[in-house]
Amino acid sequence: ELYGDEIYLNQVKGRKASIGSNELELNTYLDSIKDCMKCSLGESRNKIVLGTGNPDADIVFVGEAPGKQEDIQGLPFVGRSGKLLDKMLNAIKLNRSKVYISNVVNYRPPSNRRPTEEEIARYLPYLNSHIEIINPKILVLLGSTALNAIIGSEVVISKARGKWIQKKINTVEPWIIASFHPAFLMRQPEQKKLAWIDLKMIREKFRTRLLLRSSKNILIQYLMSCAHPTCLKQKFYVK
Ligand code: URA
Repeated sequence: ELYGDEIYLNQVKGRKASIGSNELELNTYLDSIKDCMKCSLGESRNKIVLGTGNPDADIVFVGEAPGKQEDIQGLPFVGRSGKLLDKMLNAIKLNRSKVYISNVVNYRPPSNRRPTEEEIARYLPYLNSHIEIINPKILVLLGSTALNAIIGSEVVISKARGKWIQKKINTVEPWIIASFHPAFLMRQPEQKKLAWIDLKMIREKFRTRLLLRSSKNILIQYLMSCAHPTCLKQKFYVK
């Protein structure tokens, strides 16, 4: 996808030009933070859990914090909640190779307690940088910790879920939606019907974004092949 909208939009937004992959930038960034032991959670952790999936994903999912299995394996959502998350992704024809998954907090809080305000505030810049590098079209906040960290502590998940929100995160502005955390859905399976509504909204938005992107690509390819002075000017910018 040489002339994909990432190149075009990045130029327009004034961000760096990219050849379509964020992998190098993301890995460099993750390497720079992976040995961080600055907070007390660092002392009790086994492994740091940063993120997993496609660094060029159009959709990023954010959970709360690693649990026992995640702490052992160093990967997010590999325990029971992860199994349910996989099913949720499959239900809308997605999988881990198509999305990126991370958490608000990168170390397991002792006994899986909820992260404190202070811990969330300390880790949030890392999450924001992750999101900025990946620059997804859609950001899915799983549960109230992710919702409150990104949108604000005044919102409640039962009211905010299933609604599109646009908010700037550093220099990027994805469409954001909150839904229930898989662990909550395991405790309250009757809420799965609401989660299914949210998943369908995500599927629809994803499809529309893809359609928009392919029509933009057709336009860009046309510009690239046209010798009209306006198109030549565009060509200069795209390169
Ligand atoms: N719950 C989360 O919020 N994140 C994980 O990675 C695992 C369980």
